[in-house]
Amino acid sequence: MAQNDREEARILREKAEVSVAGRYLERGLYDIPELASEQAKKLVHELQVHQIELEIQNEELRRIMLELEESHKHFSALFQQAPLGYLLLDEVGLIREVNETFCRMMGQPRSQVIGNPFVECMDGSGRDVFLARYRAFFRNPVDKRLEVLIRRERGPAFHADLKGALLTSALGRQQTNQQPRLLLAVTDITERKWAEEKRLQLERQMQQSQKLESLGVLAGGIAHDFNNLLAIILGNASLALDELPSNSAARDSLGAIEQTSLRAAELCRQMLAYSGKGRFVMENLGLSDLIDSMTTLLKASISKKAILNLNLHPTEPLPPLRGDPSQIRQVVMNLVVNASEALNDRAGAIAVSTGVMECSREYLAQVYGEENLREGDYVWLEVADTGCGMSAEVLQRMFEPFFTTKFTGRGLGLAAVLGIVRGHQGALKVESEPGGGTTFKVLFPAVEVGKTAVQREGISDASAWKKSGAILLVDDEESVRILGLRMLERLGFQALAACNGRQALDLFRERPGEIALVLMDLTMPELNGEDTLQELRQLDPRIPVVMSSGYAESEIIARFARQRLAGFLQKPYTMATLMDCLRGALSDGGPWSES
Ligand SMILES: Nc1ncnc2c1ncn2[C@@H]1O[C@H](COP(=O)(O)OP(=O)(O)O)[C@@H](O)[C@H]1O
Ligand SMILES: [Mg+2]
Repeated sequence: MAQNDREEARILREKAEVSVAGRYLERGLYDIPELASEQAKKLVHELQVHQIELEIQNEELRRIMLELEESHKHFSALFQQAPLGYLLLDEVGLIREVNETFCRMMGQPRSQVIGNPFVECMDGSGRDVFLARYRAFFRNPVDKRLEVLIRRERGPAFHADLKGALLTSALGRQQTNQQPRLLLAVTDITERKWAEEKRLQLERQMQQSQKLESLGVLAGGIAHDFNNLLAIILGNASLALDELPSNSAARDSLGAIEQTSLRAAELCRQMLAYSGKGRFVMENLGLSDLIDSMTTLLKASISKKAILNLNLHPTEPLPPLRGDPSQIRQVVMNLVVNASEALNDRAGAIAVSTGVMECSREYLAQVYGEENLREGDYVWLEVADTGCGMSAEVLQRMFEPFFTTKFTGRGLGLAAVLGIVRGHQGALKVESEPGGGTTFKVLFPAVEVGKTAVQREGISDASAWKKSGAILLVDDEESVRILGLRMLERLGFQALAACNGRQALDLFRERPGEIALVLMDLTMPELNGEDTLQELRQLDPRIPVVMSSGYAESEIIARFARQRLAGFLQKPYTMATLMDCLRGALSDGGPWSES
């Protein structure tokens, strides 16, 4: 460039000399004549005038120079201190100019940035993509955007949004030598990206919980109806079994029907638990004791090659939790069975531990469970295995009902676990890595010590039990009523039936002192189980009432807890469970209890 300038100046000078020489020749002035003093004075005067003019022109030029300088400073500041990083790149992606903002973003001085390929400013992974797209971007950057990761001298790389404009002549011939340049505007969008990711994550969580919610409603609805059908199958099978002579060939078939119905009922319970509608008998219980009592069952349920390690926190300092023991058992069982299955028939260990910890709001915000869990002490159960672990995709979907990765899996185990945990205002945390084993931690709110109640004793020795008095059976479904009546009669009770709460109350009034116990369905049209119970209590505060249902709303149950239910009968039931339940209820101190 400099050489060109010099050449131009030389040509100009030559031209000027030729032109001046020409003028002198024209006027025949080559031999400068002697000047008269008059003429000399005039000449000097002319020269002075010229000098003044030149001075004026000089002054003008200096002013223009200053103005240019000002303007240069002004635009340079606009460029250097813009809130965006600016880069000027050439066709092959070399940095030809850069502003201070960009240098600050990178934490490098201008001298280290300028002249380098722009890709060298990037974090390794994005370079190839950028290079592949650069040519097209350079040719036409209008309405296009690139996103790259730009490294910093110190600290983590930042996400940058790049927008470009192609400059062809604006920078002047001298600056670019007529080569086009790409002006890049660089914005740090790390925060925006982070916020966006957070929003997406929340949205996904939201969708997930809505999905689980609606699946829960569906599962609950199906399970409830299905349960009633099972009640009839099971009840009839157990009645028929009772009627058949002991050597009848049909007994095996009926036994199989009974067993299968019970298994189907178990499935139903899992679905109900998942829908959060299967919560029934809440009591204060010790988690370590509960697990301890399951040891034999757990050992029998896991693979022969699995070693079961129990690290149970001693019950004394472990506060109780408020829950339904059968459901908590189901949680333990489902987790332990999953842990065993994760070992894939290889040797491995399953550790079941319990303990208590204080949970802060922050901690509770990171776990699965209902929103706004209360801060405080939680009793925890941990099931850790050394099995296959889970991929991110499985982790994402494991709680979905019917999601399974197993050939014979049903995909209801974890769905039920989450439903139960939610129903207990508990929380759940999972850590898992493919090949690295899995740890499930389940937390239940601890009951403040001092409120501890005693666990109910199981019922034993049914045969030694005698019964008296009438049982009033209330159920809106006819087939259930008929079946129930037959079962009760078979058990030796005098049985009465009512098809709704109203009729039950009428019957109760009509036969004062005759009815020993009321066995009532929870969900009935008109007067439901709860309202009927209240009115019954007004007629006779001591009458034992057993609620029966395939499902129950948790709040109703909470209310029942204060109304001293004599028992709860889970539908569907066999003759044996019905008998156990009635025996327990009647011997609990009701007016008809045996002595
Ligand atoms: N401890 C575990 N280790 C590895 N994967 C597990 C574990 N527990 C659950 N999973 C994954 O979650 C899925 C769902 O589990 P679950 O709801 O119990 O259904 P199922 O056991 O019938 O498949 C399993 O199929 C499995 O892929
Ligand atoms: Mg399972």
